[in-house]
Parts: sequence; C-alpha cells; structure tokens
Amino acid sequence: MGASAYNQRVMCGIVAYAGTKQAVPFLLEGLKRLEYRGYDSAGVAVVNGGILEVLRSTGKLSNLNNLLDRQPLEGMIGVGHTRWATHGGPSEANAHPHTDCTRKVAVIHNGIIENYLPLKALLLEKGHAFQSATDTEVLSHLIEEELAAVSATCGEAALSGEDLLLRAMQRALKKVRGAYALAVLWSDAPGVVMAAKSDSPLVIGVGDEEHFMASDVPAFLKHTRRVVYMEDGEFAAMRKNACSFFDAQGLKIEKIPKIVDWDTSMAEKGGYRHFMLKEIHEQPKAVENTLRGRLFPLGHATLERETGLTAEYLQFVNQVHIVACGTSWHAGIVGKYLLEKHARIQTQVETASEFRYRRPVLTPNTLVIAISQSGETADTLAAIRLAKQSGAKVLSVCNTVGAAISRCADFDFQTHSGPECGVASTKAFTGQLVALSTLALHLSYARECMSDEEAFEWVDQLKKFPDLVRRALQLEPQVLEIARSFSQVQHCLFIGRGINYPAALEGALKLKEISYIHAEGYPAGEMKHGPLALIDSKMPVVAIATQSEIFEKVLSNIQEAKARGARIIALCTEGEKRLVGMAEHILELPPVSEFLSPALNAIPLQLLAYLIADLRGCDVDQPRNLAKSVTVE
Ligand code: AGP
Repeated sequence: MGASAYNQRVMCGIVAYAGTKQAVPFLLEGLKRLEYRGYDSAGVAVVNGGILEVLRSTGKLSNLNNLLDRQPLEGMIGVGHTRWATHGGPSEANAHPHTDCTRKVAVIHNGIIENYLPLKALLLEKGHAFQSATDTEVLSHLIEEELAAVSATCGEAALSGEDLLLRAMQRALKKVRGAYALAVLWSDAPGVVMAAKSDSPLVIGVGDEEHFMASDVPAFLKHTRRVVYMEDGEFAAMRKNACSFFDAQGLKIEKIPKIVDWDTSMAEKGGYRHFMLKEIHEQPKAVENTLRGRLFPLGHATLERETGLTAEYLQFVNQVHIVACGTSWHAGIVGKYLLEKHARIQTQVETASEFRYRRPVLTPNTLVIAISQSGETADTLAAIRLAKQSGAKVLSVCNTVGAAISRCADFDFQTHSGPECGVASTKAFTGQLVALSTLALHLSYARECMSDEEAFEWVDQLKKFPDLVRRALQLEPQVLEIARSFSQVQHCLFIGRGINYPAALEGALKLKEISYIHAEGYPAGEMKHGPLALIDSKMPVVAIATQSEIFEKVLSNIQEAKARGARIIALCTEGEKRLVGMAEHILELPPVSEFLSPALNAIPLQLLAYLIADLRGCDVDQPRNLAKSVTVE
C-alpha cells in the first residue's frame, strides 16, 4: 500500500438539513446532487430526541442508501458527507461524520487541516481515543475539549447549547491551520447545525420552515433558490426557521440571500457552460490546495511527510524514470527538466505504453515516477507493475487517492486538484506541474544542489503563482477574439523550446482532443528539419515565446514561419515588444520563474482550445472517441 496514511485529506461534499421533515431523504438527495464531485465513501448523522446517530459506508452512495433502508435514521436535523479522499484509502473508519469521545459531537468537513498531526498528538496526550487516520477527526475531539472548557468557565445555565457550541467552535478553529467547510451536530444543542468556513465553499439554502447547507448549490436547488454564500472566517447557526451568521470575532452579522436562477445542470458547473471552463477557472484555488502545507521545511522532512520518500532510500537513487500518458506525460517531460536541471538526477521520461514493452533497464537504484490524474490508466498501471518486478520503487503523482496506481506505488504524492470532470485535463495538469516543482525543490535542497537563496526564491514564486494564474485567466476576452479568427482552421502547429516544449505539446493536445482540429506540438528548433515544409497561410503557428535564455532562438523560429506566410499567435512576457509586427496576435503573460512557465503558459492555451472548440459546437466536456480515464489498453 503506497499511499502514505498521513493526513487523510478530503476534498468533497457536505450537506445539512434543519426543518420540519425527516432529514435523511434531503441529505441523500443532496449528496446525490454532489455526485459529480466524485466520492469514495459517504455518511450521515442525525439528532433525534437528544440522541446523536451516525451511519457511514464506503463505495457508491447506493451502499449508504441500502444501509439506511436496513437501519433507518429518524430526525429532522442532520448532516451528510461524501468523502473524496486525497490521502489514504477509502474506508468506513475514514468516512465522515467523525464523532468525539462522548459520541455527542458529529463533524463533517471539506478541506485540509495542515497542522492536524501536532493537534492530534496533544489530544492523544489528553486521553482522546481516535477511530481514524483522518485530519478531520481532530476537529471532533478539539470541539469536545473546548465544549468542556467553555461549559466549565461559563456554566451551562448561563449559555444555551447553541451558544456553547458556537464559542467552542470559535476557540477550536483558532488553533487550526488549513482549509475547511465544516458542519457540526451536538446532541446537547439538538436544534442547530453549526457551521464554519475558511477557504472551502459553503452555501446556505433558505426555505420556508427549513434550511439547507451544502458545499455547492445543486444539493438543494430543487427546494429553494434563495442562497446565502458564506465568506471565509464566518460561522452559521442553522435552525429550521432561521440561520444566524457571525463573523470571526463572534459578532452577529446580517447576510442577504441571493436568488440563483441557474438550472441544476448549470449549478453543477458553477454557472459555467462546461465543466472544462469551470475547471480552467478553478486553477488558482486548485494550485493553492496543491501547495497547502508543502513548502516547509525544505528538504527531506517534507518529502517524507508528504510522499513517504525517506532520506535513507533516496540516497540510493541514481536515476529517475517518469512514465505517464497524454497530458500527464507532458507534465512528466517538464518533470524531467526540473529534476535534471535542478536536482541533478539523471531522468528519463516516456509514455507508459512504450515503456512497458521495450524491456527497460531498471535497477533498485531507479525511482519510477508515475503521473496520472485518474490513477487508473491501464498503460501507466502496467508500467509500474513492470517496474516493481524489476526491483525499482515507484512514486505515484496522482489526483485520486485510493486509485489503483496510488495503491500499487511504494510512495504517493497527491496533487489535491479536486475532482476533474472534463475529459480534457486542465487543473490536474497545472496541479501536476506544481506538485513536480515542489518535489524538485525539496529534492534539490536535500541533495544540496540548491542554495538557501535559490530555494527561498522558488518558495516565493510558488506562493505567488495562484495570483499569476488569476492574471493569466484575465486574457480570456483576448483569447476569444483569437478563437473567433482561428475557429475554422484545419491545422495548427504549436512550437516551444526547453521547458516549454512540453507546453507546446500540451497546447496541441488540448486543441486536437476537443475541437478535432489536427494540431501538432514541436520543438521550435526542429522546424527547419521538416515541419517548415508545412508552413503556409493555412498553417497557423502558436509560438511560446515567453522570457527565457533562449528567447532569441524562438524569435528566429517565428520569423522563419512568418516569412513563409504563417499566421502567428505568440505568447510572450509582459513588456516584450520584439514580437510586434511579427505576430498577428500577442498574448502577454506576467513574468514568472522558468520552472513555472509551462504551467502559466498552459492557461491561455487551455482557453484557446476551449473557446475554439465551443465556437465549433463541439462537445467540450465529452469529446468524441475519448474517455476521462483510459482503463483499457
Ligand atoms: C488529457 O486532456 C487527456 N484527457 C488524456 O491525454 C489524459 O491525460 C491521459 O489519458 C492520461 O490520463 P491520466 O492522467 O488519468 O493517467
């Protein structure tokens, strides 16, 4: 079992109901509506007659349904959760809701508690018994502790159960670092669901004599269109006939419901036309989740904590072999650049379908890195099985914990990009690149190939990267103009050099797989060795010409293509003027360190592919002949 059982990080859906009807049907319906977010286990909790009852199951939601048919739970207030694990395999023990030692507190959570290990150690010292390895369960026991403390100081007579619970949660969450959308039931406060939000989505549905809570609007849109969007740092006390809101200091605040006029399908896409566009725009937040808690300390400690890779093992590694398919293979090529240039580790990269049939030379000193969004790609899984038979160890870089590739690997590094529904991979790709950058950072530092100064510069760039992605997304209107001008082309050539050669490959793959336009990615330096023969006014060229040591080389490649009639779309760094008059369209990106440039350049290339495909009326989320996860060979 490769997946390190460190923090059981969760990225999925929460729902809650308080009203005059039975809660469970609403909870199950809400969880069903959140199904598009992916999940591997689920659970519900209700309070009925002052008693808390919890039921959980692994696998499909229907398993929980069947369990509830056999063991019905009654109560008009409850919470429900679908766990989409990002660390550690799915199991009933790790499913939410999690309870405290008194079994009076039930917690459901979507997000990541970064400092859960030290908190858990303190709670264990105080005698708390844990039932799971999740980060969330720490919250249950923390709230239990604070309820006892608040009750002792304020006296239960002086405060209602609801007030005690609110204070206890405020005190508990002051000790927590990380992201959370949290809903809590306490049987001593039977009429209320207490919620808190920080960096994970949480919305309240306002009904008549009933209220709903969820990670996303589709969960209750059938019952009400009056929605309150909670902000970071806020708390909510949700009862059947009202919902009170409080700021981080505990002061009551007024929040006005908005009327949502989406249909359910639009709601699942967050108001975007397609999942792909939603996921393109989710990238700033997704990258923040990839980075969360992973920048310090520099070197072996973080490598081991986050992947299981030990210093003892790594000292024997003298070569790396990256295997992957499609977009993940493109990420792997960037990974090769990073590991060789910065960590000075000899690194090969190839498609898993080629690797597995050519009898590669592998030794116990070889670390094979398998990159896969789904964690189920048949060729990649077969490749790592072959690698393990040859005595090599395997590190998986996946976006789906508990998936076959994660479980088969010796070490596991989850990208935490969140569920990706569009067949064309976008946020998972940038998540892979950022994850590989953090791996390269810690490996380079551990191998003393990177100075403190350079390492802190990398950390600074990584911290700033989500905002750079936000700025790149602002190019969308300009990219739409380009898409309108190029939507009817039959062919397109993408060129890039160095670490941005794989970005050219990725741009071409995005365009071809959703718009069905024939597109090729090529090393810019290779133009004169053949592709130049293709160039005329009907072969547009997308050139990645952002700032780099080899910018002038790319410039001359662009001139070669321009001289033969090609229409040029160029990506460059803000302020670059040498492309004016040479490129028909220029997309200016903010300055970024070389190691993050492929990830930043991917943003306009994703938008270009999406907008062209949408203009051509293609089925962007489900392109013909393709599947999201290629589990067959
Ligand atoms: C990328 O947009 C495609 N959907 C496809 O190339 C994909 O990257 C490839 O099938 C690998 O999938 P994986 O990352 O889940 O292993």
